[in-house]
Amino acid sequence: MEDSLSGGFAAALLVAIAVATVAEAKTTIEPCSGSDACQALLGYTLYADMKVSEVAALFGGVDPAALLAANALDFGAPGAAHRILPMGLFLRVPARCACSDGVRKSVSTRYAARPGDTLAAVADVVFAGLASADQIRDANGLGASGDADPNDAPLDAGQKLVVPLPCVCFNNSDSNLPAVYLSYVVQVGDTVPAVAASYETTVTDIMNVNAMGGPVAAPGDILAIPLPACASTFPKSASDHGLLVANGTYALTAGNCVQCSCGPGNLDLYCTPASLSGSCPSTQCSNSNVLLGNVSTHATSAGCNVSSCGYGGFINGTITTLLNTGLQPKCPGPHQFPVLTDPPRTVNHDSAFLPPLSAPGPAEAGGVFPGPSSSGKGAPSSSVQGGSFKFPRVPPTHGHGPPGSVSEAPPLLSKPQQILSSFIFCLLLHFHM
Ligand SMILES: *[C@@H]1O[C@H](CO)[C@@H](O)[C@H](O)[C@H]1NC(C)=O
Ligand SMILES: *[C@@H]1O[C@H](CO)[C@@H](O)[C@H](O)[C@H]1NC(C)=O
Ligand SMILES: *[C@@H]1O[C@H](CO)[C@@H](O)[C@H](O)[C@H]1NC(C)=O
Ligand SMILES: *[C@@H]1O[C@H](CO)[C@@H](O)[C@H](O)[C@H]1NC(C)=O
Ligand SMILES: *[C@@H]1O[C@H](CO)[C@@H](O)[C@H](O)[C@H]1NC(C)=O
Repeated sequence: MEDSLSGGFAAALLVAIAVATVAEAKTTIEPCSGSDACQALLGYTLYADMKVSEVAALFGGVDPAALLAANALDFGAPGAAHRILPMGLFLRVPARCACSDGVRKSVSTRYAARPGDTLAAVADVVFAGLASADQIRDANGLGASGDADPNDAPLDAGQKLVVPLPCVCFNNSDSNLPAVYLSYVVQVGDTVPAVAASYETTVTDIMNVNAMGGPVAAPGDILAIPLPACASTFPKSASDHGLLVANGTYALTAGNCVQCSCGPGNLDLYCTPASLSGSCPSTQCSNSNVLLGNVSTHATSAGCNVSSCGYGGFINGTITTLLNTGLQPKCPGPHQFPVLTDPPRTVNHDSAFLPPLSAPGPAEAGGVFPGPSSSGKGAPSSSVQGGSFKFPRVPPTHGHGPPGSVSEAPPLLSKPQQILSSFIFCLLLHFHM
């Protein structure tokens, strides 16, 4: 029955949508001065099936385990860095939010162009709308040459680009409570109330943070979403000073020798030894026989005597600990950790976002788009089963960038194909009902 679907119909729809989303996208920016960096998260939707390590490399060499930890995905499982994550999966990527040219942005991402890449494809597809082609062009001092749109001109293979990515910190607080900010690319079909609800915040809060005049955002806009977080109080001398962990997630620190989690019961940072690194310094609380994270309780007539060994930061290669003792009215139960899950193998249409449709290029607006290369009927071969779906894999036609400090990424699924796949899928779903 899928074959009865007319490509022309889908194409007409595609053009209509592309034209509707042509408006300039808005991004929330935070002015800054000085050179201090802070912690932020980038909301990234995978444009292809990718290994954890590939996503990590794409974003300036984030540690794969840290990437998993920030998404409460099992970072300690054997081979976790090589797990394949499905196209369409939404991830929070930890980012060092620097102060550059007077505004907060993440500037540690370097991308090596692959054959056939254009600035528009790098921005809209590879970085899923987090960067714009114009911003990448400016950041790399690439002038416009010739009459053609420079954003659609093929880049030289191997050409290295700085990719500035939007982030804000706003003092890592929201309404005077610790918060970490997620840069979220608004997707087709999103509404501000729905985005607010899915991050357990209010429309008012999102409007205040983003200085919006009304509760309306357009696809491709980048909103800063405050996420409640557990803050640390490590001294400035600690290399992990300012560590902040979003509620429901984990972070790795002290050379992957310590893992800290936040929530779900309270927003007190809770750290324990991590077993990811071969050789780690001692995690024993000084002058005691207890280890980092140990909590002992003694019920007394005056209340519960609670002793705990907390984490005080990574200072000069030493895991500093703090032994706290105090009386509490009631003895606490065993510590509740945020649930760690296995990375999903497929993305459920209901629970994840479709690939972004921000800032379509002129080729799409003009209605010129190549069909899927292999059979010419790539999209209708999408399988639809029980609510989950898989996009057709496109055979790797591009080489990888040179190895080194720059990132590699899986082959590009061209944006028209990506959009087409999404729409065919939605249409199929519609026709099945
Ligand atoms: C951050 O804190 C500094 C001083 O602590 C203050 O001057 C500044 O206005 C604050 N910025 C925001 C966005 O809250
Ligand atoms: C933290 O997350 C848990 C669920 O994971 C939720 O029940 C709790 O309300 C959240 N806390 C805050 C302050 O948002
Ligand atoms: C102390 O912490 C270590 C490391 O997390 C753990 O293996 C051990 O079971 C804990 N002991 C007690 C008594 O809680
Ligand atoms: C609580 O326990 C610690 C050792 O576990 C002990 O040193 C301290 O004196 C106790 N405090 C009270 C008030 O009982
Ligand atoms: C760290 O080590 C250096 C020398 O190795 C020393 O000068 C400095 O005071 C130490 N810092 C702390 C906080 O211990």
